Amino acid sequence: MEFKSKIKTIEWVDTYSKMVDQTVVPYEYKFVNITTGDEMFDAIRNMIVRGAPAIGIAGAHGVILYAQTLKEKCSSREEFVSALLEKAEYMKTSRPTAVNLMWAVDKQIEVIKNSKSDIKGIIEELKVNAVKLENEDIEINKKIGDFGAEVVPKGATILTHCNAGALATVGYGTALGVVRSAYAKDNTIQVFADETRPRQQGARITTFELAMDGIPVTLITDGMCSYFMKKGMIDMVVVGADRIAANGDTANKIGTYTVAIAAKYHNIPFYIAAPLSTIDTSIKSGEEIPIEERSREEVTHINGKAICALEGVNIINPGFDVTPHELITGIITEKGILRPDYNKSIAEAFC
Ligand code: MRU
Repeated sequence: MEFKSKIKTIEWVDTYSKMVDQTVVPYEYKFVNITTGDEMFDAIRNMIVRGAPAIGIAGAHGVILYAQTLKEKCSSREEFVSALLEKAEYMKTSRPTAVNLMWAVDKQIEVIKNSKSDIKGIIEELKVNAVKLENEDIEINKKIGDFGAEVVPKGATILTHCNAGALATVGYGTALGVVRSAYAKDNTIQVFADETRPRQQGARITTFELAMDGIPVTLITDGMCSYFMKKGMIDMVVVGADRIAANGDTANKIGTYTVAIAAKYHNIPFYIAAPLSTIDTSIKSGEEIPIEERSREEVTHINGKAICALEGVNIINPGFDVTPHELITGIITEKGILRPDYNKSIAEAFC
């Protein structure tokens, strides 16, 4: 039985990008239309759209939006192409850690560079390519889900951190894709979702989308994971990824590394679920992954309300951490589950 998820996070519609506004989930479930490249840049930076694969698609849409504006401004094809390539490079700087953004924008850059068409034709080709990337994202996630479901024990409780679900992708999800495929085979599994401070993607988004699909979920705060592991209540951990180095070191939402250490200590399998587009073979290890620093308000406030009384307190707010490859049981991809030695299995997956 295939699991049918109701969620489609982002899609290209004629001349604009339509996406779920993730800053207001779960209080509201509403769509916003992004109509210019600059609006898309801000939507990615301000996390209206978030999650590595979803911001990849958003970046690809952003290139079309810039193209539509430049079409009105440029007097020649040459001027249009050169200005568009510059805007595409700029779009890649909207967030630094998730490599899917650079990957998807590079796919659009290939289209621009290889096109023999006039300006109108280039824009049409960019649209076709973006829709292809959207469709592929869902297909890839279903494959990841099905491979991952094979290692989910019967009746398992799966711990996840952040949101690597349908709302972090076009649909179905990576880590939550594994949950969806496993649930289709065995409806006695359940999820424990870490709250995920500071932006609370676990509390706000993971619980919301699993509840929407009728999959049992329990919310815990970030510090509780080892408590439940020690009690024998967690059977496996599955999380997503923002960038995976050639040796398997994996950047994911801040707090993931702590969960991986706790899982190792308690002998609990710790899996990453991610498409091959999240693997950056140009970097040897996690040391080279750029880590996004975000604003102090994310730490001092929740939903605009101050939670820290001490005005001017020092704050450091890295958005991601890197889990060393030694702590990772397997990387679940659309080509199957990659196992250590990751230098070897990752290289083979790209053959
Ligand atoms: O800052 P976010 O919400 O974009 O971070 C998201 C994550 O860390 C996800 O786990 C990751 O992007 C994988 S999404 C399939």
